[in-house]
Amino acid sequence: MCGIFGYIGQNTNIELGLNALKRLEYRGYDSAGAAWFNDEKKEIFYIKKTGRIKSLEEEINKSVFPKIGNPFIFHTRWASHGGITDANAHPHYDCHKNIFLVHNGIVENYRVLKQRLSEEGHKFYSDTDTEIIAHLIEKFFKGNLEEAVMSALKLIEGTYALVVISQKDPNKIVAARKSSPLLIGVGEKENILASDASAVIGRTKKVVYLNDDEVAVLTPNDFNIFNLDNIKKEKVIDEIDWDLEEAQKGGYKHFMLKEIMEEPEAIQNAILGRLIEDDGNVKLGGLDSVESRLRNIEKLFLIGCGTASFASQVGEYMIEEYAGIPCEFDIGSELRYRKPILDKKTAAIFVSQSGETADTLATLKEFKNKGLLTLGITNVVGSSQARETDAGVYTRSGPEIAVASTKAFIGQLTTLILFTVYLGRQREMSLVMGKRIVSELVKLPDLANQILKTDSEIRRLAEKYKKYHNFFFIGRKYNYPIALEGALKLKEISYLHAEGTAGGELKHGPLALIDENVPTIAICPSDSVYEKMISNIQEIKARKGLVLAIATEGNEEIKKIVDDVIYIPKTLEMLTPILTTIPLHLFAYHIADLLGRDIDKPKNLAKSVTIE
Ligand code: AGP
Ligand code: GLU
Repeated sequence: MCGIFGYIGQNTNIELGLNALKRLEYRGYDSAGAAWFNDEKKEIFYIKKTGRIKSLEEEINKSVFPKIGNPFIFHTRWASHGGITDANAHPHYDCHKNIFLVHNGIVENYRVLKQRLSEEGHKFYSDTDTEIIAHLIEKFFKGNLEEAVMSALKLIEGTYALVVISQKDPNKIVAARKSSPLLIGVGEKENILASDASAVIGRTKKVVYLNDDEVAVLTPNDFNIFNLDNIKKEKVIDEIDWDLEEAQKGGYKHFMLKEIMEEPEAIQNAILGRLIEDDGNVKLGGLDSVESRLRNIEKLFLIGCGTASFASQVGEYMIEEYAGIPCEFDIGSELRYRKPILDKKTAAIFVSQSGETADTLATLKEFKNKGLLTLGITNVVGSSQARETDAGVYTRSGPEIAVASTKAFIGQLTTLILFTVYLGRQREMSLVMGKRIVSELVKLPDLANQILKTDSEIRRLAEKYKKYHNFFFIGRKYNYPIALEGALKLKEISYLHAEGTAGGELKHGPLALIDENVPTIAICPSDSVYEKMISNIQEIKARKGLVLAIATEGNEEIKKIVDDVIYIPKTLEMLTPILTTIPLHLFAYHIADLLGRDIDKPKNLAKSVTIE
């Protein structure tokens, strides 16, 4: 997610904001900006630019604007709505440049609100969802900033960490939070707002964490918290004892663990504003331009590399079963050298977290050369893949720092489910089936959170299994690619050998390796191939192999057959990969942690493989 820093107090040199923003760089961003109130001119100045914070700093230094101001707000943007341009960078402002704000999150209903505000005469200069918040506050502004913010927020659907200043009500900063983190740093004759503690640690260790639907009003010597009805709330001031590096990981030991813990949020961000529950359908604005062409597609390729290839493979199974379109999955480094049979009714979906993977992009280029419809699923707005595909959908997983992909993979799977419903409802998928899938999707973030609560149990299992040097991961149908993902996750961060294989393939060779020294992780939710998986587990047990099962809660029977069980909540078969993945990510993480590995930066690996 983006980085937010706001300040009001005795310091008037805005360079403080720049230095604080640099401490948020690790969060990943594509543009940066600042706004500050200069008391002498009684005016808010602002500068915003695509690129690094350094570019913003250079712009500020060379500008004729006074570098003195208070309050001031700074922002690094991780684009979700609207391309990466100077105009789309934050801060955003209203028609009269009275209101300036920065935002982290997604305004789900921005199109409707933008239309209504346009009809009321508001003029917009950007393509973002955020800008409409500034105009909404303008609409309600009668001199008191917090009252206008509260009125505006009552119309906003979505998520926000929001920080607002006003030229006409300049001696305060107003902030609000819903789902996106925001905290207050309580200082001496100064108060600070930031996305996380790393930006305040240099000034104070006293922090107040905002909760959802809270509005904060900061002045140089005080702060107050209210609910959206302007009722005052008392808050506890916490003392943080983290150092800077720990703060950037949100208190987690590694970015990977932080990002696994963000997996429920990754599901939430992927579905936010995209479900039409009553119609059992989805709305994917990024596909609007190719909606009619997609109706005529008769063959779909799904392509990715590494973890993204496993998501592509799950997508193949989902789309063929629920949208009835013949699908073919392949890894980018193979498909580009094959001679696939293509025709004009063939399209391709490219899956990539970074949108910069050379093998995936090279295949994309091949498909484009042949004039085929190319679609993208990526996490990085404005990435090469995002720019080169004909259309696409962002996973909105937020920056993924650890080399091993976790929350972005969950975002890819969730986005592929949305694609499946989209394509299915264009074809034979019934309203009833569409509604069933969509209503199950809404539950997934909570179900994912339930799994995260078993983290200490998974840590205990990692203690037990870390002594082994070779592992099998087995699964069938939707969970065969998840067996591959579980094996990749374990080997790429723990350096232990792990092999993923289809359950049905064991007897065709791999079984020769099974004995009491080679444990198997068997992914066997209560689905259409459960009994087949039990047979595979029996084959292993007959050869003294240890088995750790990922099973559906309530299944007591399986405890009599295997050595250990990690339970996941019940859901539709097609959605189980999202839930079965989470314990595998935690299992790999804890084994690697117990072995003392460099988890966020495993040896020999890069976060984005931009070479072939
Ligand atoms: C995933 O844990 C690995 N780091 C790697 O396999 C990665 O998934 C692969 O390189 C593809 O990256 P992309 O999603 O950015 O295209
Ligand atoms: N949705 C907003 C945008 O795309 C905020 C992005 C962010 O969280 O940085 O500008």
